[in-house]
Amino acid sequence: MARPDKWGEEKLAPFPIHSEAGLADQPERIEMTLLQSAAIAVYRSLAIHHPRWLCRLKMLGGNSVVEDREFWKFYTTLLREGAVVQPLEDFFNLYQLVLRTRNLPGDIAELGVYRGGSAKLIASLKGEKGLYLFDTFAGMPSVRADVDTHLEGDFDDTSLEAVSSYLRGFNRVFFHKGLFPDSAGELAKTPITFSLVHLDADIYESTRAGLNFFYPRMVKGGMIVSHDYRSLTCPGVKRAFEEFFADKPEAVIELWKTQCLVVKQ
Ligand SMILES: C[S@@+](CC[C@H](N)C(=O)[O-])C[C@H]1O[C@@H](n2cnc3c(N)ncnc32)[C@H](O)[C@@H]1O
Repeated sequence: MARPDKWGEEKLAPFPIHSEAGLADQPERIEMTLLQSAAIAVYRSLAIHHPRWLCRLKMLGGNSVVEDREFWKFYTTLLREGAVVQPLEDFFNLYQLVLRTRNLPGDIAELGVYRGGSAKLIASLKGEKGLYLFDTFAGMPSVRADVDTHLEGDFDDTSLEAVSSYLRGFNRVFFHKGLFPDSAGELAKTPITFSLVHLDADIYESTRAGLNFFYPRMVKGGMIVSHDYRSLTCPGVKRAFEEFFADKPEAVIELWKTQCLVVKQ
């Protein structure tokens, strides 16, 4: 396969490269050893220059994902920018879901933005839809020790200024800084609807609050996708989904690698 285009290479992010998709689902928790740094460098280099080899290594040989030049443009650009904290598989699913919900009415929301990696993927593909981004931009809020493994303050190496600068140039991107759902504030009083919601809050209360807020505002056929539903390090996410959908008609569909998907009836 030809080397992917150098899409967006000139638009380098203000963040240092700090993590790698596919090697570490929770890179911020990892003490970066020399060996890990070397492995990450090899992964990055393969993803950027030889995606076909990377796919073979990940046992994805023979899969048409490797032929999807548009996807690899986004993935490699965000890797270069150090913005990817999601595994390759989850990143691809999100890419597909943005594309497949584009023709539905309604806007898009993301709860859990951090440095804006997944938000940039969505913003790049959303067309004229509004993208509503919710985060404290100051780290994880308080967690429930009985069901969460994250700690308050995790993911605090970001800021609203840096993320809005990273996403400058995209139209109709709206930032809601602060503790969700309080940060939804005025939006809650409007008749807004959503075609796609990306939940990536990692913890029980936030995921539950996200479902409470977004589910009734989803259009028919709209999709809620959550990262970390299957992550053993984020049991609160799965708990929140199981409780919330216990009395709802929709199935919670488990995806490879960590996500789950719900299609609103
Ligand atoms: C894993 S990070 C998001 C990563 C991002 N989606 C990406 O792929 O680049 C989780 C984020 O959720 C945010 N978060 C969790 N609960 C929240 C809440 N109740 N209100 C606002 N932000 C929250 C944290 O501040 C953190 O930045």
